[in-house]
Amino acid sequence: MASEISIAVPDLGDFKSVEVVEVLVKVGDVVVVDTPLATLETEKATMDVPSTAAGLVTAVLIGRGDKVAAGSVLVKLEATAEAVQAVPTPTVPPARVVVAAAVPSIPVPAESAGQAHVTSARSVSAPGMAPVEDVGFSRAYAGPSVRLLARELGVALGRVQGTGVKGRITHADVKAWVKQTLTTGLSGAGSGALPRVPTVDHAKFGPISVVPLSRIQKISGPRLHASWINIPHVTQYDEADITDLEAKRVALKSSSETLGIKLTPLAFIIRACANILKKHPRFNASLDEAGQSLILKQYLNIGFAADTTNGLMVPVLRDADRKDVYEIAKDLASLSDKARSGKLTATDMQGGCFTISSLGGIGGTAFTPIINAPEVAILGVSKAAIKPIWNGAAFIPRLMLPLSLSYDHRVIDGASAARFIVDLAKALEDISSLLEAVQ
Ligand code: COA
Repeated sequence: MASEISIAVPDLGDFKSVEVVEVLVKVGDVVVVDTPLATLETEKATMDVPSTAAGLVTAVLIGRGDKVAAGSVLVKLEATAEAVQAVPTPTVPPARVVVAAAVPSIPVPAESAGQAHVTSARSVSAPGMAPVEDVGFSRAYAGPSVRLLARELGVALGRVQGTGVKGRITHADVKAWVKQTLTTGLSGAGSGALPRVPTVDHAKFGPISVVPLSRIQKISGPRLHASWINIPHVTQYDEADITDLEAKRVALKSSSETLGIKLTPLAFIIRACANILKKHPRFNASLDEAGQSLILKQYLNIGFAADTTNGLMVPVLRDADRKDVYEIAKDLASLSDKARSGKLTATDMQGGCFTISSLGGIGGTAFTPIINAPEVAILGVSKAAIKPIWNGAAFIPRLMLPLSLSYDHRVIDGASAARFIVDLAKALEDISSLLEAVQ
């Protein structure tokens, strides 16, 4: 037997007359207890009025813009046994009053069945739902049920244009935004895409010329971008005292040149990295595609960034752990020549385990190198400079080499990175181990 139930506006505390800003149901809808029926607004707050019964909506007695008071009937329901059985378990949380941003909170009325309750605009997230772009979301001009819908769909409310009264965001606006995002592929929290940088007509502000990117830049740009956005980078800095190493390198320079070998600082740095990477195997690794396992490599190929007129290239020096510093210097020279003359093959640039980017020949004190994914770390080297170092009794001039180690924080934690860079600095101070023959 069907019985008719009237659902009325609950006690509104101090508010005698409030405006209906949204009607959330229509005749023919089936509602359950707590389904929001309408959104009301005072000058300080918005609130959804939830249904206190389950049933079929037979009449809607209010419209957008109407003024209502406690006791005003909003809708009539036909509460049939079938309707009650047919309705699913309620999933909509109790309606909430949302205090509009930047207004003082209103007194909290007692929480009771069917009675609205107050919450801060920042705490509107439904339990178990991911927060959506918190600041814009909280400030958006929308009622609780619209916020709930936005959260369910992952919509950043701050980006949605409201078409309701005074620019209020309605359910239809949220749905339209999702539809537009899906069809146009526009960026937004819902699409998972990155927000776009605004397009600017630079010519409006003065003369310009347009130079196409080189082929290498077009290839390396997206790879650098992918590394930057996919890897949580952290950069650890240190300095190595290379005073003795540099003295030795200069002493060996002419004898090595007679062998046709240019012993540059980078050759020693690669040698030192090879030693230290053996001691820290997590730095010679890659995450598997699912991000669930670490692939540890038993070989050690070290890439180095080479600055060429066509752009940045990263040739790979193979088996760095099985080469002495002279062999490394030779490979370095031939790979750099190939890079600068545009003769590197694809194989020359594949299979790297760890990369070094040396700007020491140019200058600078430190930088943040971008990890060459799927590697997990990269070493940046800046220009060595004489610095006063305290030896416990006095300041003495020492040649200090700045090191910048960027690492993938998913794989390497800060303590490991600090140990790695400290060990590397020590290795650069131990000339005899750098000059050792390698089997
Ligand atoms: N501190 C002080 N001086 C340094 C130095 C350092 N860290 N590194 C090199 N130098 C000196 C060298 O001793 C050399 O001087 P010398 O001729 O008097 O001996 C001079 O700088 C030039 O060295 P360079 O030709 O750079 O040799 P290298 O073996 O150190 O580097 C390359 C080879 C290919 C890495 C380098 O030429 C290059 O291209 N670097 C740029 C890398 C880059 O663009 N990285 C950015 C990626 S985003």
